[in-house]
Amino acid sequence: MSATQGPLKSFDDWEDFVLERYPEPGPSPSHKAKDEYRNYDDPKHETVREFYRLNHRHQTLEFARKKKAEFGARNRRAMSIWEGVEFLNTLVDDSDPDTDLSQIEHLLQTSEAIRADGHPRWFVLTGLIHDLGKTLCLHGEEQWAVVGDTFPLGCKFSDKIVYPEFFSLNADSRDPELMTEHGIYEPGCGLDNVTMSWGHDEYMHMIAKDHMPEEALYMIRYHSFYAAHREGAYTHLMDGKDEAMFKWVKAFNPYDLYSKSPERPDVAKLKPYYEDLIAEYFPATMMW
Ligand SMILES: [Fe+2]
Ligand SMILES: [Fe+2]
Repeated sequence: MSATQGPLKSFDDWEDFVLERYPEPGPSPSHKAKDEYRNYDDPKHETVREFYRLNHRHQTLEFARKKKAEFGARNRRAMSIWEGVEFLNTLVDDSDPDTDLSQIEHLLQTSEAIRADGHPRWFVLTGLIHDLGKTLCLHGEEQWAVVGDTFPLGCKFSDKIVYPEFFSLNADSRDPELMTEHGIYEPGCGLDNVTMSWGHDEYMHMIAKDHMPEEALYMIRYHSFYAAHREGAYTHLMDGKDEAMFKWVKAFNPYDLYSKSPERPDVAKLKPYYEDLIAEYFPATMMW
């Protein structure tokens, strides 16, 4: 199957980098190396830096609108949610199969951690499906258009976004109308009216939109919007609903970041539970 296209060896490189930026609170072995991790100029971050350079350069308002329309047509593939999980798992990249988790294992570790904490069934299901939008790369999309932190387009880029200096390469930066605090938006217009940078979050939101509760949809759509849910930026675009719903985005984030463990979930054993759970919310087949 297709490999991911871009500088990252695998999507894990980006996710590991996010984990270094936001280490799990409390005493943990990763804290020892925290200062070293914080040095983004470390040569081991070279590929991640290059990835963000491409992402910040090419994610323009026009690009995101175009991709939303293109993938919003939902004319690529008929699949159930579980088939989507298996399809994502056909992704081949340069990660190490002995130590790195497969995509299906990350999804199940996330959802099982949510289940173990006794959360509602829709929350567990959100853990399972939140990254299925990464199937974008199986349609030939480049890494910078699939993963990476997301951010609003059509207004000034926040310096709370990682590597903000790369936005000087973005064509939108040269359009003064797009570079005011609110840009094309009204203050407090609500994120529903905001075009976010394009990637797996927005794509999966399209797929789940008519089937999951609002809280779940926020978790899916904004889970990579670190500038907002970890740094508190962009409140000037949010409305009351966004503010209420971001509690859930924040509640989801630790499961996404901190549920990775070397213990591999038993996919075959868990499959029946998840097939029942999927059937509660989704039709047997959907267009992707
Ligand atoms: Fe994700
Ligand atoms: Fe994830």
